[in-house]
This record gives sequence, C-alpha cells and structure tokens, in this order.
Amino acid sequence: MKALVLAGGYGTRLRPLTHTGAKQLVPVANKPVLHYCIETLVDASITDIGVIVGDTAEEIRTALGDGSAFGAKITYIPQDEPLGLAHAVLVARDYLAEDDFVMYLGDNFIIGGIHDLVRDFEAERPDVGIMLARVEDPTVYGVADVAPDGQVLRLEEKPRDPASDLAVVGIYLFTPAVHEAVRSIDPSARGELEISDAIQWLLDEGRTVRSSMISNYWKDTGGITELLEANRAVLDLLEPSMDGDVDAESEIIGRVRIEPGAVVSRSRIVGPAVIGAGTEVTASYIGPSTSVAGNCVIDASEIEFSIVLESSSIRGVGRIESSVIGREAQVTRAENLPRSHRLVLGDHSKVQITP
Ligand code: G1P
Repeated sequence: MKALVLAGGYGTRLRPLTHTGAKQLVPVANKPVLHYCIETLVDASITDIGVIVGDTAEEIRTALGDGSAFGAKITYIPQDEPLGLAHAVLVARDYLAEDDFVMYLGDNFIIGGIHDLVRDFEAERPDVGIMLARVEDPTVYGVADVAPDGQVLRLEEKPRDPASDLAVVGIYLFTPAVHEAVRSIDPSARGELEISDAIQWLLDEGRTVRSSMISNYWKDTGGITELLEANRAVLDLLEPSMDGDVDAESEIIGRVRIEPGAVVSRSRIVGPAVIGAGTEVTASYIGPSTSVAGNCVIDASEIEFSIVLESSSIRGVGRIESSVIGREAQVTRAENLPRSHRLVLGDHSKVQITP
C-alpha cells in the first residue's frame, strides 16, 4: 500500500502565517503538522509516500527531504494549481499505478493512528474506506449519510442542508477504482474536483464505501481555532522533560517540556506547555496549552493557550491568550504617552485589543 499526502493548497484560513509558509508546516507542540502525518503513515507500515506539492514545494521538500529521516521513501508530485483533492489523485496517476493507497490531507491531525482503518480495509477490501467524526458544523466538511452497518449511502461536499453531523475525516483509503471516478466528475461550484464527488460517483456505480467512526482525536488544522485545539490535545499527552536551565526562583508545574538551551528565570510555567530550544523566558507566566518555539524571548509577559513560532519576542505585555504569533514577530509595550496601540500588521492579520 502507498500513501498520497496532500501538501499543496493556499491555506487562506491560516493567513497571515500562510503568506510566508505552507499551512502543513505550522507547528503543533513545536513540530510541523505534516511531520505527524508522515509519522502516522510510517507507524502503519506505509513507507512509499507520494507528496503532492504546489507553490510551497521548496519549503515542503526542505521539511521532509527524501523521507529517510522518517524511515520513508518520499516522491514529490507537483500540482500546478490547487484544483481539488480529486485533481491531486489525477496528477498522481503514474505514481500510484495499480496500488491501493491512503490519501492523507497534510493539514489533518489525528491522535491514535490509522492502524484500525488500514486493518479493516485490508480485511474487507471495499472500494473506499473513510473515517467519520461527529462535528458541530457539518456544512464546512464533506458529510456522509450512513446506514447502521457503516455502509455509506451518500456523500456531499459542504452541504447547505447536511444529512447528518458526520464529517468525513481527511484520511481515505482507496483501491484503483478511484482513478476512473476522478476522471469522470466535473468541478464543483468552487471550481474544484472534489474527492467527495468522486466517492459519490463510485456509490452511484454501485461500489462499496465503508465507514468507521474515528475512535480518537481528529482536527482539520486549517483554521486558527482548530490549530490551537490540536496544540492543546498534543500537549495533554506531553512527556515532560527538562533539558534547559531553570533557576531557583522559577516554578514549573505539571507536564512541561523544556528543550535544550532554553533558559527560564524568575518565571512560572504551568503545563502542559513546551518551551523551545534556545528560548529565554524571564519574569513571565506561561500558562497551560502553550507552545513556544525555539529562539524566542518572553520577558515580563503572560501567555496562555497559544502558539508562538520561531524567533519571536514578547516583552512587557499583559496577558496574551488564544493567540498564534508568527516567526520573528515582536510584541512589545508602547512606552510613550499617549497610551496607544501601535501596530505593524502583515496582510490578513487579526488583532483583538482589550481597551
Ligand atoms: C476537505 C474535504 C472534505 C473533508 C475535509 C477534512 O475539505 O473536501 O470533504 O471533510 O477536507 O479536513 P477542505 O479542507 O478542502 O475544505
């Protein structure tokens, strides 16, 4: 069995982070989402992995290399334009040949692996195997109508009037039957070849599509809220470790990972939290569900339920919550009067200020 990992797309909901980087490389607990994806595949003994890349191809290649660091063999497959998930299957036709494959959306994040999915698929060998998860707002996902035995009856992409609250998780198992399907469908209203339409095409042809409920955790990390939630979920499972320097005046409570070369002084860190390599935390409070990447400075500040990317600094500011701060960003106190907010924000930034 092969895997097809989708690592193209524009990542519009993660702007401005995605102006400068691929959405699949945004870190969760200081590790890119895409790394978790490759590790999950290798863990399920799937090591022949095709990665679909678009505009951010170079960055993705740098992050994954030839795959050997993960115990995998990676083949990069360019997709000139993000014309949909089913289009990605079309462009990967030669690579996939006549093999069964897992299609894994590189921004999807799961805990608990795909062993069960793969095992059930191999045992029953339906034409398609999908996983479903109950969600609050099904209108932003592919939605399945399912018989009590798990057989999928209908699948609709982002329906206005959803048949159920069962969203299709972005990890699919396909036999080569899918190739005829992706050739046969037309673009959707958003101009994309939808994988949901390809699966519905197979259903219309009388093919079997099996579903199982996801047993563990799943998030599509395509948006900021989901990213913060995924970060919280991973940190809840964190193995604490202490490889940096923490002075006697600091207090570390709960599951906290302090990476090599990090320096914590006169601060209080309440886990789960991770402090990246070479980061300095001084006279600050780092609260639960926070990931601070490497080479950051957190000084005289408070931050909780947030993600801070590489080489950023936060100095002298009150409490920051539910925030994602990009690389080399600087958040500081305005020293001069009048007391005012002074902002230099990238395109598509979002700032919420407490007056
Ligand atoms: C895609 C699929 C959708 C699926 C979702 C899971 O949506 O089209 O069916 O439920 O991934 O993450 P997109 O992220 O392209 O909007």
